[in-house]
Amino acid sequence: MSEQKCPYHLTTTAGAPVADNQNSLTVGPRGPTLLQDYVLLEKLAHQNRERIPERVVHAKGWGAFGTLTITGDIRKYSRAKVFSQIGAKIPMLARFSTVAGEMGAADAERDVRGFALKFYTEEGNWDLVGNNTPVFFIRDAYKFPDFIHTQKRHPRTNLRSPTAMWDFWSLSPESLHQLTILFSDRGIPRSPMHMNGYGSHTYSFWNEAGERFWVKFHFKTRQGHETLTDEEAEAIIGKTRESYQEALFGAIERGEYPRWTMYVQVMSEKEADAWSERTGWNPFDLTKVWPHRDAPLIEVGVMELDRNPDNYFAEIEQAAFSPSNVVPGIGFSPDKMLQARIFSYADAHRYRLGTHYEALPVNRPRCPVHHYHKDGSMRFFDNFHENPDAYYEPNSFGGPVERPEVKEPPLSAIGMIDRYSHRDGNDDFSQPRALWALFDEAHKERLYGNLARSMKGVPDFIVERQLALFAQIDPAYAEGVRRALDRL
Ligand code: NDP
Ligand code: HEM
Repeated sequence: MSEQKCPYHLTTTAGAPVADNQNSLTVGPRGPTLLQDYVLLEKLAHQNRERIPERVVHAKGWGAFGTLTITGDIRKYSRAKVFSQIGAKIPMLARFSTVAGEMGAADAERDVRGFALKFYTEEGNWDLVGNNTPVFFIRDAYKFPDFIHTQKRHPRTNLRSPTAMWDFWSLSPESLHQLTILFSDRGIPRSPMHMNGYGSHTYSFWNEAGERFWVKFHFKTRQGHETLTDEEAEAIIGKTRESYQEALFGAIERGEYPRWTMYVQVMSEKEADAWSERTGWNPFDLTKVWPHRDAPLIEVGVMELDRNPDNYFAEIEQAAFSPSNVVPGIGFSPDKMLQARIFSYADAHRYRLGTHYEALPVNRPRCPVHHYHKDGSMRFFDNFHENPDAYYEPNSFGGPVERPEVKEPPLSAIGMIDRYSHRDGNDDFSQPRALWALFDEAHKERLYGNLARSMKGVPDFIVERQLALFAQIDPAYAEGVRRALDRL
C-alpha cells in the first residue's frame, strides 16, 4: 500500500466540500445534534445501505482477474471468437466459492466449490459457471430448491441439519456420484488454486459450417491437487476462517500466479447418440461424466490469474455470472438442469444487484453494447446509440440491427410433452463405482470415516437406507462406512 502524499478534499456525494468529518453539529459542546447536519445524515444513511442480499447459494467467495491464453486450435468445433487465434489472451474474471455456507462461513469447510468464470470476449461475455466437480447431486431442477434447503439452516433450530441432508440424499440415489467425490479427499481442497474446475453440464459448440457438437469443459490445476483431512481443516478453521482468501490473495500479491490448463471433450451429435446407445447413459445427465476413453481431453488453453481486485465488493460481490451468457459458437444442451439455470441466474442478479447489473464495471462487456432496454433502477449510463431518436425497433433513425449470420443452427427436438421420471431406469451406480475403484485402500478408509462423521446423530432408518445405496455401488463400500460408524 503506498502512502497518499497529495491531500485531496473530502466531499459529500453531491460534490460539496466537507469542512469537518470529526465533530457533529450541535447546540453547545454537549449537544443535542441538529437535524441539519446533512453530512452526518448522509454518512449514516449510506452505512445503512452497505449490505446487499448475499447470494442465495455460493455466498462465500474469493476472486481474481486474469487471462485465458489460447494454445489449441478448436475452430473446427466452434466459431466463437474466443477460440479464433492461437496465442490470443482473453481477459477474464474467476470467482471461487463454497455452496452452502453464508458469507461469513469458514473457507476450509467440506463442500463443493464453485468455479465461476467470465470471459470478456469481443462478441460479448461468456460465463462458464461451474464447480470443482464434474457432476452434481441432482438431475432435475425441480429438486434444486429442496436440495439447497437441506444444506441451509433448519427453520426451527436455525442449525445445519445432517438429518435433512442424509434424508434427502438417501432418497435420491442420483446423488451418489457427487457424494463420493464430496466425501473423498478432494472434498476439501487446500485452496482454490489446488482444485480442478468443470463446466459440468454438456454444452454445445457450433462452427462456421453450422455443424453442432456437444462439449464438456475442464480446467485442470497446474498447482497440483492438495487437500485437507477433516482434522487438518478443523485445525485451520480454529486459526483462521479466511484460509482461501489469504492463500489466493497472497499468492497473487507475491506474483505467484495460479494456472489451470483448459480442455474440452467433444462429441458430434451422431457420436453422442451412438455413445448413449452403447452405454445406456444420457449425454445430458449432470450426474454423469463422459469417460476420458470415450471422449479424450483436447487442450484449448491456459488460464492464469494475475490481478487481485482493488475493491472486493465492487468487483467480486457485484460480479454476476450466468450460464445464460453464451456467445456465438457456444450454446446450450437439452440438460434439464442447465435449462433451468438459464433462467435462474439473471433473475437472481436482478433481485440481488438491480435491473441494470450488466452495466456495472465488473460485468460490463468489453465490446460495444447496443440494446433497446430502457429505464429502471441503476439506469446510470449514457444512451447506447449514436442517435437518441432510435430508442425503439424497427426505426428509421439508424438504431442497431440484428446480425442473422450469428444465428445458431437449428436443433431437432421431437417428443411427447410429459413429466418424465428422471429416476426410472437410470444407472446411478456404475460411475461412482468407477471412481471408488480408483481410490487406494487408505483413501477408501478416509472416505468411509468422512461419511460416518457426517452421518453422526442421523436416525438409524435413514443411515440404513443410505448404506443400502452404498451397497449397490459395492458391498465393501457399505461395509466400510458401517465399520466407521461403529467406531464413532
Ligand atoms: P480416468 O482414469 O481417465 O480419469 C479419472 C479421473 O478421476 C481424473 O479426471 C482424475 O482427475 C479424477 N479423480 C481422481 N480422484 C478423484 C476424486 N477424489 N474426486 C474426483 N475426481 C477424481 O477415468 P474415467 O474418465 O473413466 O472416469 C472414471 C471416474 O473418474 C468417473 O466415474 C468419475 O467419477 C471420475 N472423473 C472423471 C472425469 C471425466 O471427465 N471423465 C472427470 C473427473 C472425475 P485428475 O486428472 O485431475 O487427477
Ligand atoms: C450461484 C441457482 C445448479 C454453480 C447460484 C445462484 C443461484 C443459483 C440463484 C446465485 C446467483 C447470484 O446471486 O449471483 C442454481 C440452480 C441450479 C444450480 C437453480 C439448478 C437447477 C448449479 C450447478 C452448478 C452451479 C449444477 C455447477 C455446475 C454455481 C456457482 C455459483 C452459483 C459457481 C456462484 C457464482 C458466483 O461466483 O457468483 N446458483 N444453481 N449451480 N451456482 Fe448455481
